[in-house]
Amino acid sequence: MKIPPGPLAFLLPLLTVLLMLPLIIRQAPELIHAAEHSSIFISRDSLKHKAFSVLDTKCNVCHRKQNPFMVFSIKNMDRRAIRIDQQVFANQRMHKGKRITLTPEEYQILSTWITSTKHQ
Ligand code: HEC
Repeated sequence: MKIPPGPLAFLLPLLTVLLMLPLIIRQAPELIHAAEHSSIFISRDSLKHKAFSVLDTKCNVCHRKQNPFMVFSIKNMDRRAIRIDQQVFANQRMHKGKRITLTPEEYQILSTWITSTKHQ
């Protein structure tokens, strides 16, 4: 299509951008969300939530019944990082039993989180 010279040549691209604007704005929250969850953007906070999810699924499931004084929460986990480090990595006493195991990725998450609590 050949754009006739004159004001239309200037208006047409402008109009196109204006028409696209709602689309761009509608996508923005999703783009931000995707960026926040991509590994490049791991903030200390999301690392903590990942670590909590490991503690909750692999430790709390048992502690709730067998060691109720050591049920981990977002609030108390930082305070217990040293003990978790001792039990999981230094002495390898936890997880207890053979039924529950941690994947290499879950060990990695816990270990990275423990290190991050030492540099607060
Ligand atoms: C199948 C049961 C079970 C699972 C799974 C388990 N624990 Fe435990 N945990 C126990 C019991 C029982 C105790 C208390 C007796 C003991 O210390 O052995 C305990 C004690 C602890 C303690 C306190 C020990 C101390 O003296 O400081 C910590 C810390 C701990 N667990 C961390 C963890 C973490 C972290 C995980 C997950 C990666 C985990 N446990 C998974 C059963 C479990």
